[in-house]
Amino acid sequence: MAAERTQVGIVGGGPAGLLLSHLLALAGVESVVVEVHSREHCERRQRAGMLEAATVGLLRDAGLGERLGREGLEHSGIYLQFADQRHHVPLRQLTGRPVTAYAQTEVVKDLIAARSAAGAELHFGVAGTALAGLDSNQPVIRYTDQAGRRHALICDAIAGCDGYHGICRPSIPPGELRTYGTTYPYGWLGVLAQVPPSTDQVIYAHHDHGFALHSMRGTQLSRLYLQVPAGDSMATWPDEAIWKELTVRLGIPGWELAAGPVLEKGITQMRAFAVASMRYQRLFLAGDAAHIVPPTGAKGLNVAVGDVALLATALIRLLRDNQPELAASYSRLRLKQVWRAIHLACEMTTMLHVPPGEPGFAVQLQLAQLRRLITSAEALAAFAQHYAGPDSLGYDPGRTAPMMRAQARKGHAAG
Ligand code: DHB
Repeated sequence: MAAERTQVGIVGGGPAGLLLSHLLALAGVESVVVEVHSREHCERRQRAGMLEAATVGLLRDAGLGERLGREGLEHSGIYLQFADQRHHVPLRQLTGRPVTAYAQTEVVKDLIAARSAAGAELHFGVAGTALAGLDSNQPVIRYTDQAGRRHALICDAIAGCDGYHGICRPSIPPGELRTYGTTYPYGWLGVLAQVPPSTDQVIYAHHDHGFALHSMRGTQLSRLYLQVPAGDSMATWPDEAIWKELTVRLGIPGWELAAGPVLEKGITQMRAFAVASMRYQRLFLAGDAAHIVPPTGAKGLNVAVGDVALLATALIRLLRDNQPELAASYSRLRLKQVWRAIHLACEMTTMLHVPPGEPGFAVQLQLAQLRRLITSAEALAAFAQHYAGPDSLGYDPGRTAPMMRAQARKGHAAG
């Protein structure tokens, strides 16, 4: 078995793990990323695609803003639709913070390209990943690489960025971790369709049949979602049935939904979940390994980027500057932001989805809530602040950001 060392061992090559590796490298802290899936799988899997202004700011500062700047579609707001009417929520006007449509898959491609160009150690397609020595200051990641060689990677810290089903969270001794969660009695059927979006900004639609969402992937692809009963399978949903239901739920007088070939479709169960704490000794959890934010509002990636922004700063201070204080506060600081996002997402979820059974009372309450939202300037401004996300992501602006910008400038000059 090969014994190797690194400063930060990162389990998971999704957006959280890759961004962490990138931010650490900008500050001269080395890392190794191990990922069970192939690079192609990571670059293709469909996730949400709305970036908060603070997320865009961080990616730009970190030198990752070039294609995002060219291809990302900045939206001044969103639409909330109910009772056959579509209402615009002017996020930029109300908060100064627009949202940007740029798919998570594109963020991942940009990150893999940047890390590969920098010669980073990214190991895709590994097997048998396990953690050991978590009670010491030198925890170990064991894994088998694609060539079948076993490795023991000795680390100063481990970042668990391996998602909800990953191995890091379950490696924490039982009794050291509390979990909080709920499962909704419905899921989302997501569709990627080859047709230009019928809307300039995302539409969140409340309808008697259930929730529907119209989003986009650039100017040529539409991304659409339907609330479906928990347990529904794709067999229940041939393409014609999907378009029919989307047309009904998203339709308003004088507007039509353009349909097109379905490129991909799948059903996701809706749940909310969070751990406490996000840290055990020198293992730090980030992104979906630590929490699942329900998809309504597209907060999941933004929260993961927020985790990583703070974790990078904390690890830089711990490992480079010998200052452990921020690492000790990582979980407490992040959980406040995590629960802020879960709050928004759960509120939007219950306001917009029709519960199963006899939903009459619930629907009347939802309509009252939606009417108040769009008629009370105060309620709308509060919602907009909540939706638009935090002002900044809490990475150390005094130390990390100037370094990142210098690095980014160098990158631009070299490119
Ligand atoms: C998208 C997903 C969301 O959950 C949302 O609230 C908005 C947009 C999307 O996939 O584009």
